[in-house]
Amino acid sequence: MGATPDRVDDRVYIFDTTLRDGEQSPGASLNPDQKLAIARQLALLGVDVIEAGFPLSSPGDFEAVQRIARQVEGPMITALARAARPDIDAVWQAVREAERKQIHMVLSVSDIHIERKLRSNRRDVLRRGADAVAYARSLCDDVEYSPEDAGRADPAYLFETLEAVIDAGATVVNIPDTTGYTLPNEFGALIAAICANVRHIDQAMISVHCHNDLGLSTANSIAAVLNGARRVECTINGIGERAGNASLEEVVMILRTRERSLGLRTGIDTTRLAEVSALVSRQTGVPVQPNKAVVGANAFAHASGIHQDGILKDKITYEIMRPEDVGMGESRIVLSPRSGRHAFQFKLAELGYHLPDAAFSRAWEQFLQLADRKKDILDKDLEDIVRSMQSLAAASPRPLGEGTASSPLPLGQGTASSPPPLGQGTASSPPPLGQGTASSPPPLGEGRVGVVV
Ligand code: KIV
Ligand code: ZN
Repeated sequence: MGATPDRVDDRVYIFDTTLRDGEQSPGASLNPDQKLAIARQLALLGVDVIEAGFPLSSPGDFEAVQRIARQVEGPMITALARAARPDIDAVWQAVREAERKQIHMVLSVSDIHIERKLRSNRRDVLRRGADAVAYARSLCDDVEYSPEDAGRADPAYLFETLEAVIDAGATVVNIPDTTGYTLPNEFGALIAAICANVRHIDQAMISVHCHNDLGLSTANSIAAVLNGARRVECTINGIGERAGNASLEEVVMILRTRERSLGLRTGIDTTRLAEVSALVSRQTGVPVQPNKAVVGANAFAHASGIHQDGILKDKITYEIMRPEDVGMGESRIVLSPRSGRHAFQFKLAELGYHLPDAAFSRAWEQFLQLADRKKDILDKDLEDIVRSMQSLAAASPRPLGEGTASSPLPLGQGTASSPPPLGQGTASSPPPLGQGTASSPPPLGEGRVGVVV
């Protein structure tokens, strides 16, 4: 299999194409310095392959791929070529100085593409692909062949193509669902059929490359690895052409979170996922949607009272991953009109306020009225509520707003000489967040939950 790592049954190799397919997201283009900075982070993340660009497309992209090949150690470096000598030569010149390198080439396999895009026929396309692979292999030990639009191709012709390119020396065959058309059961069955029907398939690694036009790219990638694929092409934040590619962080965290069921693993340092996600978003200008799985701002935020109550008792109730395992810091309780008393009390305690029962009930009523009117409730809003409770009680332990201008002493935090604040230090203090009792199973995530109001 040339320079491709040996296939180990339970290991799934991660091929990151953020810098090639990801960069094809409208408006996401990157200059060579930005590409190099991202490639360095991808190497630290532990990806197995970096697809650094499409060298023939522009001098800037050639330079970016070459600098990455020269300077980034660890992952294999590859770049994309069409099945034509000038493209292949450009890729080879750009990647040849990498420690481990690969030439990746693409040529259509579906009749829709062959007839309407290439205006050619199956026989000529098959020969062109095999010739291009043979040429690429004369330059490089590792050659990946991608029959474009495999998801909509005639399987028999796809198998024939794969046999021809493997015989010509392809070390990796990548099965792209270029248009994001297939369903997980179909795509899984296609990979299984390739394993069963393609002669000499054991001489090549099977990779997959799924697009997200119907929101199925991650599911299709997982279906593929369950049926024999061992390499997944994906991008940080799922960026890429049109609706994007399978999201690296989703694929990796599915394999990790469900490792016991799936029996598969990657070499990714998942604690770096959030940092790399933020870097890619900053550099490409493509924001991460707040509800994005794994790395979205809300991925570990809890807003409804029912959920908050569970999370405050034991994080395992509503979290299947630990935020710290993906570098997302802490879980968050977000106060909203749907929040419950438990979360409100917890937040007050975080700010240092411990109200007696009657004052707490009045504060809760005020909070609910405010939350119905105001979208974002800030710490200051809670302080105002507590302040009004204190003036009602006419028993303020010390003048409000004491402390420095930059950091006013929160209400209810007295000094040694001041009288004890309202209810502080009593048995009513809430227990630390999400820490179960001795009899409950250990929570998934220990440590406190941050609160945003
Ligand atoms: O979507 C696609 O088919 C591709 C190929 C180059 C793998 O991006
Ligand atoms: Zn693609």
